[in-house]
Amino acid sequence: MSKPFIYFSFGTLKSMDYTAFRNARILVTGGAGFIGNNLVRRLLQNEVSKIVIMDNQSSGMAVFLPDDNRITFVGMDIDKMDKLNFVINQHEFDYVFHLAAHFANQNSVDHPFSDIQTNIVGTVSLLEILKFHKSLKKFVYASSSCVYGTAENMDEGVYIYPSETPYSINKYTAELYTQYYAHLFHVPTVSIRIFNTYGPYELAGKYRNVIPNFIEKALNGEDLVITGTGKETRDFTYVDDLIDLMLSAALSPSKDGEIFNGGTGSKTEVANMAEIIKEVAQSQSNLVFKPARNWDKVKDRVSDLSRSAGELGYAPKVNIREGLEKTIKWYKDNYDKVKSLKNYFE
Ligand SMILES: NC(=O)c1ccc[n+]([C@@H]2O[C@H](COP(=O)([O-])OP(=O)(O)OC[C@H]3O[C@@H](n4cnc5c(N)ncnc54)[C@H](O)[C@@H]3O)[C@@H](O)[C@H]2O)c1
Repeated sequence: MSKPFIYFSFGTLKSMDYTAFRNARILVTGGAGFIGNNLVRRLLQNEVSKIVIMDNQSSGMAVFLPDDNRITFVGMDIDKMDKLNFVINQHEFDYVFHLAAHFANQNSVDHPFSDIQTNIVGTVSLLEILKFHKSLKKFVYASSSCVYGTAENMDEGVYIYPSETPYSINKYTAELYTQYYAHLFHVPTVSIRIFNTYGPYELAGKYRNVIPNFIEKALNGEDLVITGTGKETRDFTYVDDLIDLMLSAALSPSKDGEIFNGGTGSKTEVANMAEIIKEVAQSQSNLVFKPARNWDKVKDRVSDLSRSAGELGYAPKVNIREGLEKTIKWYKDNYDKVKSLKNYFE
């Protein structure tokens, strides 16, 4: 029996009790990716008994994963039913964290069919198999803030109709499937709408997020190219905070396809973020402005955390400067390894 979900509050200092993960058996799809690497490390700290990682290494790398005999790495595509069945049916998982994805907007514009294949077919394949696994306590789906499209109000209950990119359409469609499987087959699903997340274990690359790309360019003294005016805002979220939320969602009583925002609740102008990177990296790089990409119509994006805070006790702790300092330190500390892998995803 796992322990019940417990939330401690010490005045303003809040900390979650994750001891229910002790001895748990966990599947992490996309576990070799950026968020996966951070999640896997945190799960190991919480004394889980086993982590199976499924990843085709198309945008993540097993090379960063910790050396720990509780981890089993399976190199595979999540949309191949035969292999998926074979691997999943060897285990009785307590928790599944579904992070594998064709990432992200521009990649989906360039490769719409691959996006459907991984983000929709892959997700449905997993759920089709897991609907028979009664041991499962929670299926946590990594959704995206891009499902809000151009909506101004970003609370989970708002009506949305994303159509900007295949990625936004498909991440939302997969979210709907998690609800369908929850309602019809009682698969205990929960979705986290992740707002621009950054931190260690994310390398720069053509389809990667702006922060690792700016860090690498700043450290090399190259131009930081902003697509837009720089006044656009995003809710940049440090990965440790997001992991807190994912773990809390996994242990929460909600099982019926509920959705939670994973952001910080505050917004930062893109140009301001670039200036902080320059300052922390002690870089002489210039900011260069180019027209926004034609699909990028979102001027301001910030999460409403009412539900995540109210139901899960989520309270992000890391502000943008502190998060960028930690990320740049990781980048510098691991520079040799990062450099040897440069251009891997280009
Ligand atoms: N990083 C962010 O800011 C952000 C924002 C919103 C949503 N998300 C979501 O969070 C999840 C993790 O994102 P991330 O930033 O770690 O991305 P990532 O690209 O680093 O990780 C995704 C992993 O999935 C693997 N993968 C891709 N296609 C696969 C397939 N068909 N079969 C098996 N493995 C496959 C990749 O190799 C990679 O390791 C994704 O679902 C993404 O959509 C991330």
